[in-house]
Amino acid sequence: MLSPRLQAIATLVPKDSTLVDVGTDHAYLPIYLVENSLVKKAYATDISPQVIKFTKENIANHHLSNQIKVYVADGLKDLDFTYDTVVLAGMGFFTIQRILKESLTLPSTLIIECQSKLAELRLFMHNLGYKIAEEVVIWDKFYYAIIKYQKGKETLTEAQILFGKSNNILYFEDLKKKYLKIYTQSKQAKYQKYLLLLDEIIEKKSVAK
Ligand SMILES: C[S@@+](CC[C@H](N)C(=O)[O-])C[C@H]1O[C@@H](n2cnc3c(N)ncnc32)[C@H](O)[C@@H]1O
Repeated sequence: MLSPRLQAIATLVPKDSTLVDVGTDHAYLPIYLVENSLVKKAYATDISPQVIKFTKENIANHHLSNQIKVYVADGLKDLDFTYDTVVLAGMGFFTIQRILKESLTLPSTLIIECQSKLAELRLFMHNLGYKIAEEVVIWDKFYYAIIKYQKGKETLTEAQILFGKSNNILYFEDLKKKYLKIYTQSKQAKYQKYLLLLDEIIEKKSVAK
């Protein structure tokens, strides 16, 4: 069974896609997607040869060695097969940014679960030519934002760049608590503005419910 975080990522993978799970670690995600016939093809890659040993063992234990190809690779730059969907999960913004900047071919769909600097990520993806197709925030001991990107242009408001496009009101309320604490200590105008933007989001999303 997948963790709630990986399950939420799996739900965003387009049916019958050819997927690369970059930084796959134990390959839990491609194993689940292949076992449930949710993708046409799955590749599992990781930068670490040590990690890949366990990846291969895990895939073999599920009798999927013929179906999930495994590669040691830094991001997408050395992959010489075609794919349409890429998952980048459990990595920080700078790693994700470098991987995408160095990639010669960018996929039509990218599913990103980034563990730092979400506002910087949203701005970077916007400038790279991607739009947010869907964003979900789930609780799995922490809040995780998972963003499904597709190639295209969109207009993002400042609030959407800062706090995303999910509908998770509890998440926005949690952010409000965090920024209230920071504002109370720092008195910086920037955080006061964040609090106003979060109030607006919570009000709009509550009415829309
Ligand atoms: C915290 S694990 C996340 C595993 C899995 N994606 C998940 O979300 O549960 C991060 C993995 O990314 C791999 N990684 C880090 N930088 C990478 C890169 N540039 N290219 C490929 N894999 C990378 C690490 O070796 C590690 O196995």
